[in-house]
Amino acid sequence: MSFAKLLESLPIPILQAPMAGASFDAMAVAVSEAGAMGSLAAAGVAPDEMGAVIDAIRARTDAPFGVNLLMAPPARPEPAEVGTALARLTRWYAELGLEVPDHPNRFSQDFDAQLQALTRAAPPVASFSFAILTKAQVDALHAAGSYVVGTANTVAEAKAWAEVGADGICAQGFEAGGHHAYFLEGIEASSVGTMALVATVLQAVDVPVIAAGGIMDGRGVAAALALGASAVQMGSAFLLADEAINGATWQKALREAPDDATRLTRAFSGRYARGLENRFVREMAAVQEEVPAYPVQNRLSQAMRAAADKAGDPEMMSLWAGQAVTLARPGAAGEMVKLWWAQAQETARALARRTGATEPR
Ligand SMILES: Cc1cc2nc3c(=O)[nH]c(=O)nc-3n(C[C@H](O)[C@H](O)[C@H](O)COP(=O)(O)O)c2cc1C
Repeated sequence: MSFAKLLESLPIPILQAPMAGASFDAMAVAVSEAGAMGSLAAAGVAPDEMGAVIDAIRARTDAPFGVNLLMAPPARPEPAEVGTALARLTRWYAELGLEVPDHPNRFSQDFDAQLQALTRAAPPVASFSFAILTKAQVDALHAAGSYVVGTANTVAEAKAWAEVGADGICAQGFEAGGHHAYFLEGIEASSVGTMALVATVLQAVDVPVIAAGGIMDGRGVAAALALGASAVQMGSAFLLADEAINGATWQKALREAPDDATRLTRAFSGRYARGLENRFVREMAAVQEEVPAYPVQNRLSQAMRAAADKAGDPEMMSLWAGQAVTLARPGAAGEMVKLWWAQAQETARALARRTGATEPR
């Protein structure tokens, strides 16, 4: 079966976005069991645990699911660079009553080892963000029986993924919550809205395109399918789901968020990501280009973010969320995807009436 056929065979063409720090296996299983497709955010999973985590999902659903890795480059920063970055964070740690952490031995999981473990575990779909696989790595995933989805913020990135043999492109628009995928150009040249990105990626590649960014309900699903996307990937819409693991402080901030509350920031992690604006985002904005690149800054701010969460202080947490997050509602993830699909069908019927494609009933 081709990847296009797999997407067509889904009763509900909605992919739950993998969300490191906000979703894990329970959400993936619930969404796949409901007839859409769940995804495991495996960025933080150690290589020697990867197989067991993936097998545990397989044991709980016969439906297809995805597993996602963030392609962090190996980081060996100079001690001076780490020292400067930690010095910048000292006052924030002090506010929480903490010393800055020691120079870490490791800044992220070893991506190559994670990829090997993922390839051995052979999930139905493997998706990637932040960089691009080699053709040999894609071939190895195919040989193991996994479809490969690459995330792109630009047409050039989509073409690059198609050239290495990706089976599908996740076109992630500027609206999207969380980290953005850009890997060929900087953030400014990679900031394309979902509507423009999906349409232009579709005319550039021959593989299925999955639309991501700003899709929060059935209207957005119908709009993306109307553009020609084969499926949609939704993240922020699941942030208040029963299966979400982002915690009470983050969820309270989401529920209370005013309109237009998100910003792209590099301050937390060293890579641009979209989240609710808070004091850390505002006060670090002037120096955000100077912090070490991902994953170094991400690791250095980790204990601060965790302590702020524990203290119930949203001002020093990375509250990742997309531009339309005020449309997020609580509920069970499986029920949400069923509701959105019913809404999408109703939207399509209303459009058919509006366009004269069917006679009014
Ligand atoms: C809290 C959060 C965490 C995310 N983590 C990941 C991740 O681990 N891997 C990934 O490829 N994308 C991640 N994303 C991005 C999503 O895959 C997707 O592009 C985005 O959620 C779509 O935009 P939306 O939030 O407006 O639906 C994350 C998004 C959010 C909101």
